[in-house]
Amino acid sequence: MDIPKILESLAAWLPAMAALSAQPDSRPPNSEGAETGPLINLFDYESLARRRLSQLALDYVSSGAGDEITLRRNRECFDEIRLQPRVLVGVSKIDTSLELFGERLDYPILLAPCAYQKLVHPEGEIETARGAAAARAPFVVSTFATVALEEIAQATPAPLWFQLYVHPDKAFTRDLIQRTQDAGYRVLCVTVDTPILGIRDRERRAGFHLPPGIERANLMALGTAVTKMGHFEGGGNYSILDPAINWDTIDWIRSCTKLPVVLKGILNPEDARLACEHGVAGIIVSNHGGRNLDTVPATIESLPAVMEAVEGRIPVLLDGGVRRGTDIVKALAYGAKAVLIGRPYLWGLGVGGSQGIEQVIRILRMELEGAMALCGTPSLPRITRSTLWPV
Ligand SMILES: Cc1cc2nc3c(=O)[nH]c(=O)nc-3n(C[C@H](O)[C@H](O)[C@H](O)COP(=O)(O)O)c2cc1C
Repeated sequence: MDIPKILESLAAWLPAMAALSAQPDSRPPNSEGAETGPLINLFDYESLARRRLSQLALDYVSSGAGDEITLRRNRECFDEIRLQPRVLVGVSKIDTSLELFGERLDYPILLAPCAYQKLVHPEGEIETARGAAAARAPFVVSTFATVALEEIAQATPAPLWFQLYVHPDKAFTRDLIQRTQDAGYRVLCVTVDTPILGIRDRERRAGFHLPPGIERANLMALGTAVTKMGHFEGGGNYSILDPAINWDTIDWIRSCTKLPVVLKGILNPEDARLACEHGVAGIIVSNHGGRNLDTVPATIESLPAVMEAVEGRIPVLLDGGVRRGTDIVKALAYGAKAVLIGRPYLWGLGVGGSQGIEQVIRILRMELEGAMALCGTPSLPRITRSTLWPV
Protein backbone atom coordinates (compact mmCIF):
# COMPACT_ATOMS: atom_id res chain seq x y z
CA MET A 1 0.00 0.00 0.00
CA ASP A 2 1.42 3.43 -0.84
CA ILE A 3 1.52 6.26 1.66
CA PRO A 4 -1.36 8.35 0.20
CA LYS A 5 -3.60 5.23 0.21
CA ILE A 6 -2.73 4.50 3.87
CA LEU A 7 -3.47 8.12 4.77
CA GLU A 8 -6.71 7.96 2.85
CA SER A 9 -7.93 4.82 4.64
CA LEU A 10 -6.84 6.26 8.00
CA ALA A 11 -8.84 9.40 7.29
CA ALA A 12 -11.86 7.22 6.52
CA TRP A 13 -11.54 5.44 9.89
CA LEU A 14 -10.85 8.44 12.09
CA PRO A 15 -14.43 9.75 12.49
CA ALA A 16 -15.69 6.28 13.47
CA MET A 17 -12.87 5.84 16.00
CA ALA A 18 -13.44 9.31 17.40
CA ALA A 19 -17.16 8.59 17.78
CA LEU A 20 -16.40 5.37 19.65
CA SER A 21 -13.90 6.92 22.03
CA ALA A 22 -16.26 9.84 22.65
CA GLN A 23 -18.93 7.52 24.09
CA PRO A 24 -19.10 7.92 27.87
CA ASP A 25 -18.08 4.68 29.48
CA SER A 26 -18.82 4.42 33.14
CA ARG A 27 -17.25 1.00 33.66
CA PRO A 28 -15.08 0.62 36.76
CA PRO A 29 -11.42 -0.36 36.33
CA ASN A 30 -11.97 -4.01 37.35
CA SER A 31 -13.93 -4.85 34.22
CA GLU A 32 -11.23 -6.63 32.18
CA GLY A 33 -12.76 -9.61 30.41
CA ALA A 34 -16.22 -8.10 30.65
CA GLU A 35 -16.37 -7.86 26.85
CA THR A 36 -16.46 -11.61 26.41
CA GLY A 37 -17.32 -13.08 29.84
CA PRO A 38 -20.67 -13.54 31.59
CA LEU A 39 -22.79 -10.48 32.32
CA ILE A 40 -22.30 -10.16 36.06
CA ASN A 41 -22.94 -6.49 36.73
CA LEU A 42 -24.74 -3.55 35.16
CA PHE A 43 -21.54 -2.24 33.57
CA ASP A 44 -21.25 -5.51 31.64
CA TYR A 45 -24.70 -4.81 30.22
CA GLU A 46 -23.51 -1.31 29.32
CA SER A 47 -20.49 -2.75 27.47
CA LEU A 48 -22.57 -5.20 25.50
CA ALA A 49 -25.27 -2.63 24.77
CA ARG A 50 -22.59 -0.35 23.34
CA ARG A 51 -21.87 -3.04 20.78
CA ARG A 52 -25.46 -4.15 20.13
CA LEU A 53 -27.48 -0.91 19.90
CA SER A 54 -27.68 1.16 16.74
CA GLN A 55 -25.47 4.26 16.82
CA LEU A 56 -28.58 6.46 16.92
CA ALA A 57 -30.04 4.59 19.91
CA LEU A 58 -26.70 4.56 21.70
CA ASP A 59 -26.19 8.29 21.22
CA TYR A 60 -29.71 8.97 22.43
CA VAL A 61 -29.46 6.75 25.51
CA SER A 62 -25.93 7.78 26.55
CA SER A 63 -26.39 11.47 25.96
CA GLY A 64 -26.12 14.02 28.75
CA ALA A 65 -26.47 17.78 28.60
CA GLY A 66 -23.60 20.05 27.62
CA ASP A 67 -20.21 18.74 28.72
CA GLU A 68 -21.89 15.85 30.60
CA ILE A 69 -20.40 17.03 33.88
CA THR A 70 -23.55 16.23 35.85
CA LEU A 71 -23.88 12.90 34.06
CA ARG A 72 -20.42 11.86 35.32
CA ARG A 73 -20.94 13.42 38.72
CA ASN A 74 -24.01 11.25 39.38
CA ARG A 75 -21.61 8.29 39.39
CA GLU A 76 -18.59 9.95 40.99
CA CYS A 77 -20.55 11.05 44.04
CA PHE A 78 -21.90 7.55 44.70
CA ASP A 79 -18.33 6.23 44.44
CA GLU A 80 -17.03 8.80 46.93
CA ILE A 81 -19.43 7.83 49.72
CA ARG A 82 -18.14 5.24 52.20
CA LEU A 83 -20.32 2.74 54.02
CA GLN A 84 -20.04 2.00 57.72
CA PRO A 85 -20.74 -1.68 58.41
CA ARG A 86 -21.94 -3.35 61.60
CA VAL A 87 -20.99 -6.95 62.39
CA LEU A 88 -22.53 -9.76 64.45
CA VAL A 89 -26.04 -8.52 63.78
CA GLY A 90 -27.56 -11.77 62.49
CA VAL A 91 -28.40 -11.37 58.84
CA SER A 92 -29.77 -14.79 57.92
CA LYS A 93 -33.00 -13.13 56.75
CA ILE A 94 -32.84 -10.07 54.49
CA ASP A 95 -36.09 -8.17 53.97
CA THR A 96 -36.05 -5.61 51.13
CA SER A 97 -39.81 -5.07 51.03
CA LEU A 98 -41.52 -1.73 51.54
CA GLU A 99 -44.81 0.06 51.14
CA LEU A 100 -45.06 2.89 48.62
CA PHE A 101 -48.20 4.88 47.81
CA GLY A 102 -50.37 2.16 49.30
CA GLU A 103 -48.70 -0.74 47.47
CA ARG A 104 -46.40 -3.42 48.77
CA LEU A 105 -43.16 -3.74 46.77
CA ASP A 106 -40.65 -6.57 47.11
CA TYR A 107 -37.72 -4.20 46.79
CA PRO A 108 -37.05 -0.47 46.40
CA ILE A 109 -36.22 -0.36 42.68
CA LEU A 110 -38.42 1.09 39.93
CA LEU A 111 -37.95 1.54 36.19
CA ALA A 112 -37.68 5.26 35.43
CA PRO A 113 -39.61 6.82 32.54
CA CYS A 114 -37.52 6.67 29.37
CA ALA A 115 -38.80 7.83 26.00
CA TYR A 116 -38.69 6.12 22.59
CA GLN A 117 -37.98 2.53 23.62
CA LYS A 118 -38.60 1.16 20.11
CA LEU A 119 -35.18 2.65 19.33
CA VAL A 120 -33.75 0.00 21.64
CA HIS A 121 -36.06 -2.96 21.01
CA PRO A 122 -38.59 -3.56 18.18
CA GLU A 123 -41.43 -4.01 20.69
CA GLY A 124 -40.38 -1.03 22.78
CA GLU A 125 -42.32 -0.39 25.96
CA ILE A 126 -44.36 -3.62 25.59
CA GLU A 127 -41.16 -5.61 26.02
CA THR A 128 -40.11 -3.44 28.98
CA ALA A 129 -43.51 -4.02 30.57
CA ARG A 130 -42.95 -7.78 30.21
CA GLY A 131 -39.59 -7.46 31.93
CA ALA A 132 -41.11 -5.33 34.68
CA ALA A 133 -43.87 -7.90 35.22
CA ALA A 134 -41.38 -10.77 35.39
CA ALA A 135 -39.28 -8.84 37.91
CA ARG A 136 -42.36 -7.45 39.74
CA ALA A 137 -40.95 -3.94 39.44
CA PRO A 138 -43.10 -0.84 38.92
CA PHE A 139 -42.56 0.63 35.45
CA VAL A 140 -43.02 4.37 34.94
CA VAL A 141 -44.24 4.79 31.35
CA SER A 142 -43.12 7.97 29.59
CA THR A 143 -45.49 10.39 27.86
CA PHE A 144 -43.11 9.93 24.93
CA ALA A 145 -43.55 6.15 24.81
CA THR A 146 -43.59 4.60 21.35
CA VAL A 147 -46.55 2.39 22.30
CA ALA A 148 -49.87 3.82 23.49
CA LEU A 149 -50.32 3.77 27.26
CA GLU A 150 -53.50 1.65 26.98
CA GLU A 151 -51.70 -1.02 24.94
CA ILE A 152 -48.91 -1.22 27.50
CA ALA A 153 -51.43 -1.58 30.33
CA GLN A 154 -53.20 -4.40 28.48
CA ALA A 155 -49.94 -6.24 27.90
CA THR A 156 -48.76 -6.50 31.48
CA PRO A 157 -49.77 -7.21 35.05
CA ALA A 158 -46.79 -5.06 36.17
CA PRO A 159 -47.65 -2.12 38.41
CA LEU A 160 -47.58 0.89 36.07
CA TRP A 161 -47.08 4.57 36.81
CA PHE A 162 -47.48 7.22 34.16
CA GLN A 163 -44.96 10.03 33.63
CA LEU A 164 -46.62 13.22 32.46
CA TYR A 165 -45.05 15.91 30.32
CA VAL A 166 -47.49 18.81 30.41
CA HIS A 167 -48.54 19.83 26.89
CA PRO A 168 -49.39 23.49 26.21
CA ASP A 169 -52.89 22.36 25.15
CA LYS A 170 -54.55 21.94 28.56
CA ALA A 171 -57.53 20.01 27.17
CA PHE A 172 -55.13 17.48 25.65
CA THR A 173 -53.21 17.20 28.93
CA ARG A 174 -56.44 16.70 30.90
CA ASP A 175 -57.45 13.97 28.46
CA LEU A 176 -54.09 12.27 28.82
CA ILE A 177 -54.43 12.27 32.61
CA GLN A 178 -57.92 10.79 32.29
CA ARG A 179 -56.66 8.08 29.91
CA THR A 180 -53.98 7.19 32.44
CA GLN A 181 -56.51 6.79 35.20
CA ASP A 182 -58.92 4.80 33.00
CA ALA A 183 -56.16 2.42 31.94
CA GLY A 184 -55.37 1.54 35.56
CA TYR A 185 -52.11 3.38 36.11
CA ARG A 186 -51.45 3.76 39.81
CA VAL A 187 -49.38 6.92 40.18
CA LEU A 188 -49.10 10.07 38.09
CA CYS A 189 -45.51 11.20 37.98
CA VAL A 190 -45.21 14.76 36.67
CA THR A 191 -41.79 15.66 35.30
CA VAL A 192 -41.13 19.22 36.42
CA ASP A 193 -37.48 19.67 35.42
CA THR A 194 -38.20 19.97 31.70
CA PRO A 195 -40.07 23.20 30.88
CA ILE A 196 -37.72 23.12 27.90
CA LEU A 197 -35.50 20.31 26.73
CA GLY A 198 -31.89 20.19 27.86
CA ILE A 199 -29.27 20.90 25.22
CA ARG A 200 -27.53 17.61 24.56
CA ASP A 201 -24.53 17.98 22.30
CA ARG A 202 -24.05 14.27 21.70
CA GLU A 203 -27.66 13.86 20.65
CA ARG A 204 -27.54 16.93 18.38
CA ARG A 205 -24.24 15.93 16.81
CA ALA A 206 -25.79 12.55 15.98
CA GLY A 207 -28.67 14.36 14.27
CA PHE A 208 -31.16 12.66 16.56
CA HIS A 209 -34.55 12.00 14.93
CA LEU A 210 -37.32 9.45 15.20
CA PRO A 211 -36.80 6.87 12.42
CA PRO A 212 -39.76 5.61 10.33
CA GLY A 213 -42.20 3.53 12.36
CA ILE A 214 -41.25 5.16 15.66
CA GLU A 215 -43.47 7.88 17.03
CA ARG A 216 -44.89 9.34 20.23
CA ALA A 217 -47.88 7.03 20.36
CA ASN A 218 -49.60 8.87 23.23
CA LEU A 219 -49.77 12.10 21.24
CA MET A 220 -51.73 10.72 18.23
CA ALA A 221 -54.61 13.09 18.94
CA LEU A 222 -52.28 16.00 18.17
CA GLY A 223 -51.51 14.81 14.62
CA THR A 224 -48.52 13.10 13.02
CA ALA A 225 -46.39 16.26 12.80
CA VAL A 226 -46.28 16.22 16.61
CA THR A 227 -45.82 12.49 17.03
CA LYS A 228 -42.71 12.57 14.82
CA MET A 229 -41.29 16.05 15.48
CA GLY A 230 -37.51 16.19 16.09
CA HIS A 231 -36.18 17.54 19.37
CA PHE A 232 -34.74 20.71 17.91
CA GLU A 233 -36.96 21.17 14.91
CA GLY A 234 -37.96 24.76 14.26
CA GLY A 235 -34.78 26.19 15.79
CA GLY A 236 -35.05 24.47 19.14
CA ASN A 237 -38.60 25.44 20.00
CA TYR A 238 -39.82 22.22 21.56
CA SER A 239 -43.51 22.97 21.36
CA ILE A 240 -44.77 19.74 22.90
CA LEU A 241 -43.57 20.80 26.35
CA ASP A 242 -45.27 23.64 28.16
CA PRO A 243 -42.57 26.10 29.27
CA ALA A 244 -45.16 27.96 31.36
CA ILE A 245 -45.71 25.16 33.89
CA ASN A 246 -45.70 26.43 37.47
CA TRP A 247 -47.16 25.57 40.87
CA ASP A 248 -50.69 26.48 39.69
CA THR A 249 -50.27 23.79 37.02
CA ILE A 250 -49.53 21.25 39.76
CA ASP A 251 -52.65 22.30 41.70
CA TRP A 252 -54.64 21.98 38.47
CA ILE A 253 -53.21 18.51 37.74
CA ARG A 254 -54.11 17.41 41.26
CA SER A 255 -57.66 18.61 40.67
CA CYS A 256 -57.85 16.49 37.47
CA THR A 257 -57.05 13.12 39.04
CA LYS A 258 -57.60 10.83 41.99
CA LEU A 259 -54.16 9.27 41.48
CA PRO A 260 -51.29 10.14 43.80
CA VAL A 261 -49.27 12.90 42.10
CA VAL A 262 -45.50 12.63 42.39
CA LEU A 263 -43.12 15.35 41.13
CA LYS A 264 -40.03 14.16 39.30
CA GLY A 265 -37.01 16.38 38.93
CA ILE A 266 -36.61 18.17 42.27
CA LEU A 267 -33.08 19.16 43.38
CA ASN A 268 -33.63 22.40 45.28
CA PRO A 269 -34.76 22.01 48.93
CA GLU A 270 -36.97 25.08 48.55
CA ASP A 271 -38.87 23.32 45.73
CA ALA A 272 -39.14 20.22 47.92
CA ARG A 273 -40.73 22.34 50.67
CA LEU A 274 -43.19 23.88 48.17
CA ALA A 275 -44.04 20.42 46.84
CA CYS A 276 -45.12 19.40 50.36
CA GLU A 277 -47.18 22.56 50.72
CA HIS A 278 -48.93 21.89 47.40
CA GLY A 279 -50.05 18.50 48.68
CA VAL A 280 -48.24 16.18 46.29
CA ALA A 281 -47.88 12.55 47.35
CA GLY A 282 -44.13 12.33 46.84
CA ILE A 283 -41.10 13.66 45.00
CA ILE A 284 -38.29 12.19 42.98
CA VAL A 285 -34.88 13.81 43.41
CA SER A 286 -33.63 13.69 39.83
CA ASN A 287 -31.48 15.67 37.40
CA HIS A 288 -32.98 13.73 34.49
CA GLY A 289 -29.94 11.49 34.36
CA GLY A 290 -27.69 14.52 33.67
CA ARG A 291 -29.66 15.24 30.48
CA ASN A 292 -31.16 18.66 31.20
CA LEU A 293 -29.08 21.33 32.98
CA ASP A 294 -25.41 20.54 33.00
CA THR A 295 -23.30 21.36 36.10
CA VAL A 296 -26.17 20.88 38.59
CA PRO A 297 -25.14 18.60 41.48
CA ALA A 298 -25.40 14.86 41.52
CA THR A 299 -28.72 13.66 42.88
CA ILE A 300 -27.12 11.85 45.82
CA GLU A 301 -25.41 15.08 46.95
CA SER A 302 -28.69 17.02 46.62
CA LEU A 303 -30.62 14.48 48.68
CA PRO A 304 -29.62 15.44 52.28
CA ALA A 305 -30.86 19.04 52.00
CA VAL A 306 -34.07 17.89 50.31
CA MET A 307 -34.69 15.40 53.12
CA GLU A 308 -34.25 18.19 55.65
CA ALA A 309 -36.77 20.40 53.84
CA VAL A 310 -39.33 17.59 53.52
CA GLU A 311 -39.13 16.71 57.24
CA GLY A 312 -40.61 13.26 56.63
CA ARG A 313 -43.91 14.63 55.30
CA ILE A 314 -43.86 12.69 51.99
CA PRO A 315 -41.77 9.88 50.51
CA VAL A 316 -38.69 10.97 48.59
CA LEU A 317 -37.31 8.80 45.78
CA LEU A 318 -34.08 9.28 43.85
CA ASP A 319 -32.64 8.47 40.45
CA GLY A 320 -29.44 9.23 38.55
CA GLY A 321 -26.38 7.03 38.35
CA VAL A 322 -27.70 4.09 40.39
CA ARG A 323 -25.66 1.13 39.16
CA ARG A 324 -24.82 -0.89 42.29
CA GLY A 325 -26.64 -2.36 45.26
CA THR A 326 -24.35 -0.24 47.43
CA ASP A 327 -25.67 2.89 45.64
CA ILE A 328 -29.17 1.93 46.76
CA VAL A 329 -28.02 1.49 50.36
CA LYS A 330 -26.40 4.95 50.19
CA ALA A 331 -29.55 6.59 48.82
CA LEU A 332 -31.69 4.90 51.48
CA ALA A 333 -29.20 5.86 54.20
CA TYR A 334 -29.72 9.51 53.27
CA GLY A 335 -33.46 9.00 53.56
CA ALA A 336 -34.72 8.00 50.10
CA LYS A 337 -37.54 5.49 50.17
CA ALA A 338 -36.64 3.87 46.83
CA VAL A 339 -34.60 4.45 43.68
CA LEU A 340 -35.28 4.37 39.97
CA ILE A 341 -32.95 3.23 37.23
CA GLY A 342 -32.97 4.57 33.67
CA ARG A 343 -30.12 3.65 31.34
CA PRO A 344 -29.33 0.28 32.98
CA TYR A 345 -32.68 -1.25 32.06
CA LEU A 346 -32.42 0.16 28.54
CA TRP A 347 -29.08 -1.68 28.26
CA GLY A 348 -30.86 -4.82 29.48
CA LEU A 349 -33.67 -4.25 26.98
CA GLY A 350 -31.22 -3.82 24.11
CA VAL A 351 -29.11 -6.81 25.07
CA GLY A 352 -31.79 -9.34 25.99
CA GLY A 353 -35.29 -7.84 25.75
CA SER A 354 -37.54 -8.51 28.74
CA GLN A 355 -35.14 -11.15 30.05
CA GLY A 356 -32.32 -8.63 29.92
CA ILE A 357 -34.39 -6.25 32.06
CA GLU A 358 -35.28 -9.03 34.49
CA GLN A 359 -31.61 -9.94 34.76
CA VAL A 360 -30.49 -6.33 35.34
CA ILE A 361 -32.95 -6.09 38.21
CA ARG A 362 -31.96 -9.50 39.55
CA ILE A 363 -28.32 -8.38 39.68
CA LEU A 364 -29.18 -5.13 41.46
CA ARG A 365 -31.38 -6.96 43.97
CA MET A 366 -28.67 -9.51 44.65
CA GLU A 367 -26.14 -6.72 45.19
CA LEU A 368 -28.59 -4.83 47.42
CA GLU A 369 -29.21 -7.89 49.59
CA GLY A 370 -25.47 -8.55 49.79
CA ALA A 371 -24.75 -4.97 50.80
CA MET A 372 -27.52 -5.03 53.41
CA ALA A 373 -26.14 -8.24 54.91
CA LEU A 374 -22.58 -6.91 55.05
CA CYS A 375 -23.67 -3.54 56.44
CA GLY A 376 -25.56 -5.36 59.21
CA THR A 377 -28.88 -3.84 58.11
CA PRO A 378 -31.17 -6.80 57.32
CA SER A 379 -34.29 -4.71 56.62
CA LEU A 380 -34.80 -1.34 54.91
CA PRO A 381 -35.72 0.65 58.07
CA ARG A 382 -32.40 -0.48 59.58
CA ILE A 383 -30.56 1.51 56.88
CA THR A 384 -29.96 4.95 58.38
CA ARG A 385 -27.39 7.73 58.34
CA SER A 386 -25.26 5.59 60.64
CA THR A 387 -24.85 3.17 57.71
CA LEU A 388 -22.64 5.86 56.14
CA TRP A 389 -19.07 6.39 57.27
CA PRO A 390 -18.94 9.77 59.03
CA VAL A 391 -17.05 12.47 57.13
C1 LIG B 1 -32.89 7.54 27.01
C2 LIG B 1 -33.56 8.26 28.12
C3 LIG B 1 -34.84 8.79 27.94
C4 LIG B 1 -35.47 9.45 28.99
N1 LIG B 1 -36.75 9.89 28.82
C5 LIG B 1 -37.40 10.47 29.86
C6 LIG B 1 -38.76 10.82 29.74
O1 LIG B 1 -39.40 10.61 28.72
N2 LIG B 1 -39.35 11.40 30.82
C7 LIG B 1 -38.68 11.64 31.99
O2 LIG B 1 -39.25 12.16 32.95
N3 LIG B 1 -37.38 11.28 32.13
C8 LIG B 1 -36.73 10.70 31.10
N4 LIG B 1 -35.44 10.29 31.27
C9 LIG B 1 -34.79 10.43 32.58
C10 LIG B 1 -35.02 9.16 33.43
O3 LIG B 1 -36.36 9.06 33.82
C11 LIG B 1 -34.15 9.15 34.70
O4 LIG B 1 -34.36 10.35 35.39
C12 LIG B 1 -32.67 8.96 34.43
O5 LIG B 1 -32.45 8.12 33.33
C13 LIG B 1 -31.99 8.36 35.66
O6 LIG B 1 -30.60 8.29 35.48
P1 LIG B 1 -29.81 6.97 35.01
O7 LIG B 1 -30.06 6.82 33.55
O8 LIG B 1 -28.39 7.33 35.32
O9 LIG B 1 -30.32 5.81 35.81
C14 LIG B 1 -34.79 9.64 30.23
C15 LIG B 1 -33.52 9.10 30.39
C16 LIG B 1 -32.90 8.42 29.36
C17 LIG B 1 -31.53 7.84 29.58
